[in-house]
Amino acid sequence: MYKLKIIVSTVRPGRKGPLVGHWIAEEAQKQGSFDVEILDLAEIGLPLMNEAIHPIMKQYEHEHTKQWSAKIDEADAFIFVTAEYNYSYPASLKNALEYVMHEWAYKPSGIVSYSAGPFAGVRAVISLKADLINFRNVALFEGVTIPTIGDFINEDGVFVPNDRLTTAATQMLTQLVRWTKGMKAIKEDQ
Ligand SMILES: Cc1cc2nc3c(=O)[nH]c(=O)nc-3n(C[C@H](O)[C@H](O)[C@H](O)COP(=O)(O)O)c2cc1C
Repeated sequence: MYKLKIIVSTVRPGRKGPLVGHWIAEEAQKQGSFDVEILDLAEIGLPLMNEAIHPIMKQYEHEHTKQWSAKIDEADAFIFVTAEYNYSYPASLKNALEYVMHEWAYKPSGIVSYSAGPFAGVRAVISLKADLINFRNVALFEGVTIPTIGDFINEDGVFVPNDRLTTAATQMLTQLVRWTKGMKAIKEDQ
């Protein structure tokens, strides 16, 4: 089993992120190859970057950084669940990315994006993919893009996907397993 961390990126009260995060976690569990853990940035509560030494040195001063580093380090793969905030991904995710460096490297990521409007967070995906390169993290082509997120949340506050979203999730997870296997070989060959 590969260790998959699902990162729920938004932190505001009333956010939709956890609903999407729980759905994709269930899909990932069904896939059968992953030991799945949700890392919810609101629960983790990293302060704005407050380490004195560049993360590339891995000389962490604060306990919150050491714990975050350990969680990211043990991962074999990631799924980022991200909304679009002002044509990009949320600052909370940028902050969480920047806390560590080597821990993200030579691992694949799937991205699940959503937004209130029709564009499904695709501009957040473009920004996130560009930034992941800096961490030597490989974002997959396959992803899940959810437009008008409110339309997929039922009266009980549960995310209910349509067939397109379920198919996209399956395709992304199938590729994520393949990339995880391949990237492990690359990581071990450093
Ligand atoms: C600060 C902020 C900025 C936003 N900017 C965009 C945007 O640029 N494009 C878009 O389609 N939706 C935008 N939205 C709408 C969000 O995509 C939508 O509210 C979504 O549910 C936010 O994720 P969350 O509920 O997990 O916080 C924005 C929402 C917030 C709170």
